[in-house]
Amino acid sequence: MQQEIEIAELRKLTELIKEKYDYDFKNYAMSSFKRRIKRIVELYKFKTIDSLIEKLESTPSFFEEFVSEITVNVTEMFRDPSFWSVLKEQIIPNILLNHNKLNVWHAGCSSGEEVISMTIMLEEMGVLDRSNIIATDIDTAIIDRAKKGTVSLKNMELNASNYERFEGKYTIDKYFQEQNGKAVFDPNLIRQVSFRKHDLVKGVVFSKFDLILCRNVMIYFNQTLQNDVLYKLHESLFRYGYLAIGSKESLIWCDIANKFIVVNNEEKVYKKIKD
Ligand SMILES: C[S@@+](CC[C@H](N)C(=O)[O-])C[C@H]1O[C@@H](n2cnc3c(N)ncnc32)[C@H](O)[C@@H]1O
Repeated sequence: MQQEIEIAELRKLTELIKEKYDYDFKNYAMSSFKRRIKRIVELYKFKTIDSLIEKLESTPSFFEEFVSEITVNVTEMFRDPSFWSVLKEQIIPNILLNHNKLNVWHAGCSSGEEVISMTIMLEEMGVLDRSNIIATDIDTAIIDRAKKGTVSLKNMELNASNYERFEGKYTIDKYFQEQNGKAVFDPNLIRQVSFRKHDLVKGVVFSKFDLILCRNVMIYFNQTLQNDVLYKLHESLFRYGYLAIGSKESLIWCDIANKFIVVNNEEKVYKKIKD
């Protein structure tokens, strides 16, 4: 397909998806959403957007593949090592000063690298068994991958270097075994983790947490959706709980900003101070 995708076509596509599958992509950031649709069209060799729409209409099993292609799943272990140092040295000790248990939600956990990083850090701090971790994503295929606790070996060089910069206690190879080109992490690490499918757009508030990581997820949403999701994240935090977003994201323009204080501006960590 050579010609540009038109807004009207994108609207028709998002309306069909909402109606048939109850997923709402209309408030995803337009430019990246359009790029992803273009990629799908090329990948599956659709001649027109209408033929993509027809396929979605007639083949529900194709929809899961579509969701996987629409979402951007790029992730890494100990992404932004200095952020993880702040968690280890400041945020987690602060929470555990007043609580016996640590409740963590990874919202948009992708293939689980962020979750494995969390469990390694908590294990090294000696508090993993006092932690309850929920990890969610909209993409079923990626959640299934996360549950396996495996990471492609070709990504392990970057992961190992992030772990080193974070100043982990050991070397990362203590935690995994190589099997068929994959790093298979010790399943015991995820003993306190429960993985679930959850859509931040339509999903309801389902629990309260001391710490929420929603990093590099809202960057794909427009301002309206960022506001909506931030209301839900705020609602899901205990008072004085912490919210961490991605290093290129910001909370300051959002309606709910006055209910948080900035704990670390560089690492984008905020604390809920008002209900
Ligand atoms: C770029 S990854 C971020 C992964 C990890 N948090 C990190 O920072 O490395 C974004 C993830 O958000 C998920 N996502 C996108 N829209 C979502 C939604 N509406 N609800 C839940 N997760 C969503 C995607 O499936 C993807 O796995």
